[in-house]
Amino acid sequence: MNILITGGAGFIGSHVVRRFVTTYPNYHIYNLDALTYAGNLENLKDIEKASNYKFLKGDIVDEAFIFEIFKEYRFDGVIHLAAESHVDRSIKDPLAFVKTNVIGTVNLLNAAKEFWKDDIEEKRFYHVSTDEVYGSLGQIGLFTETTSYDPNSPYSASKASSDHFVRAYGETYNLPYVITNCSNNYGPNHFPEKLIPLFINNIIEGKSLPVYGDGKYTRDWLFVEDHATAIDLVFHKGNNHETYNIGGFNEWQNIELVQLLCQIMDGKLGKPAGFSEKLIEYVKDRPGHDLRYAIDANKINKELGWKPSVTFEQGLERTVDWFLQNKEWLSRVTSGEYQEYYNKMYS
Ligand code: NAD
Ligand code: DAU
Repeated sequence: MNILITGGAGFIGSHVVRRFVTTYPNYHIYNLDALTYAGNLENLKDIEKASNYKFLKGDIVDEAFIFEIFKEYRFDGVIHLAAESHVDRSIKDPLAFVKTNVIGTVNLLNAAKEFWKDDIEEKRFYHVSTDEVYGSLGQIGLFTETTSYDPNSPYSASKASSDHFVRAYGETYNLPYVITNCSNNYGPNHFPEKLIPLFINNIIEGKSLPVYGDGKYTRDWLFVEDHATAIDLVFHKGNNHETYNIGGFNEWQNIELVQLLCQIMDGKLGKPAGFSEKLIEYVKDRPGHDLRYAIDANKINKELGWKPSVTFEQGLERTVDWFLQNKEWLSRVTSGEYQEYYNKMYS
């Protein structure tokens, strides 16, 4: 099988690429990535020389390039992760999200429709999406696969739009697709613009921890390798034209999560209890901030037997250890452009 994975140099994509390259030596894995600020080939150093792996640098918004690679490599399946992924950036620059997340996805769909037309039923288009398309929950309830879409940020609106296009190509052109909507991931290689890696980096640097609003927003956290396992399972065993929700059964209010992270960091850095918590600073809220996300992952659990393999405490400790052992990775990704980003967002 020739499999195209898009966004494979990013956070989740790199874990998915590694899993497929190492688990399926007889598949050819093509990693297509534009290497934006979020893409980093260092994430894949350990597998870059594998004989079943090839990196393709390119932009999914470039239609001609996408058609060229479909023609050259005759993909049997696509696992599509490439996206602009950060909500705060989408508030500053929505159009970048429309370009990559909507137009980029439609380019891939068009190429699949064109190059797969003779044996389309043997192919598979896997679209990796997010729970944010469902909007915000109140204090109770869970997102299921039938929850109505109700996106609130330009990021989630662009992901919702791409989900609709994938579904529409399934209905209109009989494209065999699966979509998964996953909750918040965390783990090694997470870019330090998102809550957990940003706060780990700030604690290391002794900088303040900017908690938005009252900190009572809730997310459902999943260790990234468990997401990669779920993607593997759905790619191979999921039913066509189906959506599966993926989540950690693991809800945390931001402030409680930050307190736990501070405790773990104090222990690892040999600081007295309460040291990192003093860095917490409540700052202006994110506009359109969704109050709560929580996934009902019973469908993937019952139909495909998937469940998370690590507890949050284990996963968070592994994450902190990875960042402390990879300070060079952290300082490389937080130099240059990152400083400008940080000043623009947080000054
Ligand atoms: P990320 O920002 O870490 O990585 C995105 C990758 O896509 C980067 O390598 C980047 O270079 C690449 N990319 C961006 N624009 C591109 C373009 N135009 N052409 C080619 N490559 C491009 O993102 P992530 O957190 O790893 O998320 C991956 C996917 O999973 C996204 O589709 C996201 O919506 C989805 N998702 C993320 C989470 C999460 O918690 N991070 C949860 C659920 C779903
Ligand atoms: O739910 C899945 C989504 O999770 C993915 O689709 C997105 O790609 C991913 O970025 C993530 O979105 P969030 O907006 O939930 O993640 P983020 O890490 O940006 O924020 C998590 C929570 O922490 C959220 O309530 C906002 C808050 N926050 C975030 C930052 C960066 C802060 O309080 N301070 C911060 O500095």
